Amino acid sequence: MSDSAPSARSRDSIGNTLFVAIGVSLICSVLVASAAVMLKPRQLKNEEEFRQRIILDVAGLYEPGADIATLYAAIEPRMVDLASGEQAPVYLVMDGNEIEQVILPVEGAGLWAMMYGFLAVENDGQTARGLRFYDHGETPGLGDQIDKPAWREQWQGKRLFGPDGEPQITIVKGYAPDDSDFEIDGLAGATLTARGVTSLVQYWIGENGYGPYLQQLDDKESR
Ligand SMILES: Cc1cc2nc3c(=O)[nH]c(=O)nc-3n(C[C@H](O)[C@H](O)[C@H](O)COP(=O)(O)O)c2cc1C
Repeated sequence: MSDSAPSARSRDSIGNTLFVAIGVSLICSVLVASAAVMLKPRQLKNEEEFRQRIILDVAGLYEPGADIATLYAAIEPRMVDLASGEQAPVYLVMDGNEIEQVILPVEGAGLWAMMYGFLAVENDGQTARGLRFYDHGETPGLGDQIDKPAWREQWQGKRLFGPDGEPQITIVKGYAPDDSDFEIDGLAGATLTARGVTSLVQYWIGENGYGPYLQQLDDKESR
């Protein structure tokens, strides 16, 4: 009995405790770091596949269960010049050699955070085909009504520009008139998110965004 007492004390010593704690922390951090490194390629692949799925969805080409890479073969990414001199990506939905629609990345401030999405535009550069956000911080049940399929469907066929060529598409407060070319129903209890969406869409189709590019598509169509 007198033999075991000193060894029990040394097992519980401060040095021993620190040694075990540091050892366990080191092993855990090596495990976590290795997992992060090993999972990175899969994470990037999933992110890319998610982006492709959203682009297909806004273009009306997404089929649940279908192979994303196969569907995405119809999409051609391009870089285009903005009025600011910067370059920005667009995603062309091709039908053979013809552009069928153009998908524009759009982003802007919501009530709580930045909202990121894609606006699909017909090949006339004038008519909306769809709007889909994939990242935002709006409140469930209020601002997140922007994700509701019934609300999103209204974008199809709306005119983006007024007769003067200025962006005119607008989310109104309340219901848009049935025959309205430019208006989209408001979001009940979420007028601030709706305003954010109107301004970001108007910005990106406007003269400082993709406006000149869309105009040039329209000129080609009407040639
Ligand atoms: C907790 C909380 C979360 C809210 N989230 C949103 C939101 O995501 N988007 C939004 O526009 N308004 C949100 N609101 C409401 C706004 O403060 C504001 O009242 C509303 O946008 C006005 O819209 P209405 O005129 O349609 O009622 C939230 C309010 C509260 C208290």
